[in-house]
Amino acid sequence: MTKQDTTHPHKIVTVALGDRSYEIKIGAGLLQEADKHMAPFITNRHVIIISDSVVGPLYQDALAASLAPTARKVDCLTVPAGEASKSLSQFADLMNDILALQVDRKAVLVALGGGVIGDLVGYAAASLLRGVDFIQIPTSLLAQVDSSVGGKTGINAKAGKNLIGAFYQPKLVLADMDVLSSLSAREMRAGYAEIVKYGLLGDASFFEWLEQHGAQVLAGDLDALSHAVMTSCEAKAAIVSQDETEAGKRALLNLGHTFAHAFEAEARYDGRLLHGEAVGAGLALAFDFSTFLGETTSQDAVRVKSHLKAMGLPYSLATLPAGRASEETVIHHMMKDKKTKDGALTFILVKEIGAAYVAPNIPTDAVNRFLKDQA
Ligand code: GLY
Repeated sequence: MTKQDTTHPHKIVTVALGDRSYEIKIGAGLLQEADKHMAPFITNRHVIIISDSVVGPLYQDALAASLAPTARKVDCLTVPAGEASKSLSQFADLMNDILALQVDRKAVLVALGGGVIGDLVGYAAASLLRGVDFIQIPTSLLAQVDSSVGGKTGINAKAGKNLIGAFYQPKLVLADMDVLSSLSAREMRAGYAEIVKYGLLGDASFFEWLEQHGAQVLAGDLDALSHAVMTSCEAKAAIVSQDETEAGKRALLNLGHTFAHAFEAEARYDGRLLHGEAVGAGLALAFDFSTFLGETTSQDAVRVKSHLKAMGLPYSLATLPAGRASEETVIHHMMKDKKTKDGALTFILVKEIGAAYVAPNIPTDAVNRFLKDQA
């Protein structure tokens, strides 16, 4: 559900979850006006803004100063930038640091950063004093269109990524288009892959729009960018409203991700391969695999790959920036993924662009033959 805010030039998407419903506000200048947007949630309350060592210095002080007149007290905490901050030990440090600020159950955590900060702070909010309110201010395109929306929070374990966590919804998401101007072209492309995903999984006309306007989105054109973020958030909100805890339909959001997670595991999360880049190649392979299984036509796969290529994203095993992934290791990592059941693999496959579906029990043999086939 979308409406135009009458007083300010931004869009609002509502995630409809009964008494846990919340708004995602999308537009330019939201961070500057954060006090106004956040007032209903922070008035006379203790606010703790948690950011990382890259994003914090850019926005944390200004945000704290603007919230100070409304909040009872504002504190700032910073964790090291990077995936390592989603470890159990960093989580323990963060919880102790928050508790050292003598918080009560009316405290509000603010996640100011990309996906790592959103996941970590969301899980901290879910756990702190058995649950306190939190607000997401995603500062990467990827976080704005995916991880800040829908309430998946969590940290990593030795056995794998995101294995410790909770479904815990924020009270508000502020997706400020201005903060995206500090991102590199590579980070923008990585976020864009998740945007393409929404067109491919359920909205062929959005994919068509992206084919025409993708370059403007990547160039940071405000209208194109906010339309792409809004459409992505609407798509995600609609799915999450129907299936918050991934009992069914929410799994569609994993289109391309079974392959992507395997590529990331092979690249050992060392920065050579961004999550969104892995998703780009994963989307292409999801279409190729669906073609291999006779589920879709090769024309759609060609169209998807040609768009990913035009946008500068990986679109095959061979174009991954971390180097070509070998089929043996891809299979090995897929089998270890938490979404495998009894040795069989669950894939999100496609009938055509805009029509994805969940396919459980795909034999590993078929995946093996498909991967061996890849040029
Ligand atoms: N990123 C997939 C989901 O939120 O379900």
